[in-house]
Amino acid sequence: MDFSNYKNYPIEQINSETVGSNIEIFQKILKNASNPFAGKLSSELFVEHETQIALQKRVPWHQFYILDPANGEVVSAFRIIYHRGNNGYTNLLVSFVHTKAEYRKRGFIDYLISECIKKYETVGSYEFSVPGSNNKDTDDFIKKHIKPSEKYFWTLYSAVQTFYARFGFVPFRDMNWLTYKAEEVSTYTIDDVKTGFRDTTVELIAFDEDVVKFFADPDYASYVNDSLNDENVRSMSLDNPTFYTCHNRDLCVAELHHKELKNTGLRLKHSNGKESFVIVSGDLHHEELVIHKLFTNLDVATESELLDDDLDRIQKFLHVIFDEYPFRELGFVKGYTFAVTTADLHAKDPDTQSYIIEKLQGNDWSLDTSNTKFLAMMKDYAKDGVAEGTVWLNNGFWCFG
Ligand SMILES: CC(C)(COP(=O)(O)OP(=O)(O)OC[C@H]1O[C@@H](n2cnc3c(N)ncnc32)[C@H](O)[C@@H]1OP(=O)(O)O)[C@@H](O)C(=O)NCCC(=O)NCCS
Repeated sequence: MDFSNYKNYPIEQINSETVGSNIEIFQKILKNASNPFAGKLSSELFVEHETQIALQKRVPWHQFYILDPANGEVVSAFRIIYHRGNNGYTNLLVSFVHTKAEYRKRGFIDYLISECIKKYETVGSYEFSVPGSNNKDTDDFIKKHIKPSEKYFWTLYSAVQTFYARFGFVPFRDMNWLTYKAEEVSTYTIDDVKTGFRDTTVELIAFDEDVVKFFADPDYASYVNDSLNDENVRSMSLDNPTFYTCHNRDLCVAELHHKELKNTGLRLKHSNGKESFVIVSGDLHHEELVIHKLFTNLDVATESELLDDDLDRIQKFLHVIFDEYPFRELGFVKGYTFAVTTADLHAKDPDTQSYIIEKLQGNDWSLDTSNTKFLAMMKDYAKDGVAEGTVWLNNGFWCFG
């Protein structure tokens, strides 16, 4: 591709290792991206919590951007976030893709993403087209983090439908959302959640509890994701689920407003060793509560009464936790909405999973299969050998971690 039109726009980068000394430009990029990525949050809050998350360095990330030499404005930017999966797979998640409004439709994002993909796919041996681009730091970071022994795949969530097809991204799986919406706050209390079959042990999962095991432990995998060690079974960063991004955002906003968050989930244990649980967070972008994972190893064929009771308690719990959620008082969350993708309803057999979906629909949850909310896409997914025979694990809300 000929990018000679962009000769005044060299490509710059910062990354998870250098962000500390480049906070000013990092926050400028975030401020631009806050429209639209801040959703209903203020731009200031968005910049604040995204900075905190970035500084935690849970995973390596690489931020690319171009500036307007005339005024120093950030023209376009995007980030690559690394998520290590199982069996030597690493997911390069493309995120925060953004061009400032007055620079749109001039091919800037096309230029920026195409050049960076080339850099990555040649492990830093390609020179950016435009002289003055930061080849050295880019190459050093890529060479440090892209290990020959690992296999890489590119993923993203598109809010602009199939725009990313130009870079080789293909819709990868359905993201079917089940949503419950109500105008009125319910009158359920935690005592209602505790009421039901007497043999069930009810445990609240505290907000500060480490919940990684609920996402990463193979015992809690859906029947879809059975054999973690099979070469063809690929994970999306099981030990760093997207949950933590939302959780951090909740925490950051709560701290800024001196509010306390108490619980993040509910666990129901049975005397036969089986259990169900649900893990939630706020989704402050969309003014809703998101269910990151609802799991059960009960079998609808033989344990439907227990399953009904668990689902009933879980739904009551969602009402209670929504009501407790301090963001309601702060005005960030105006509606009364819970949402879950059907892939995040984990059961040990397909009939039980279908039953849960039907049950929720019967309780006024509506199913949206249009995939318009956002589209999960993977680069080269349609190429021979990429998709064939592989099973992709889902590790909770936002399947790519
Ligand atoms: C999407 C976005 C990054 C494109 O940036 P840009 O620099 O204008 O991109 P380019 O000039 O390289 O390409 C423009 C293309 O984007 C397409 N596009 C822009 N917004 C789109 C949308 N909402 N849906 C589908 N396509 C869209 C245009 O149709 C155009 O396609 P064309 O080249 O076939 O005409 C920019 O519009 C933006 O920042 N939007 C807000 C943030 C956002 O939505 N990011 C993506 C989230 S996944």
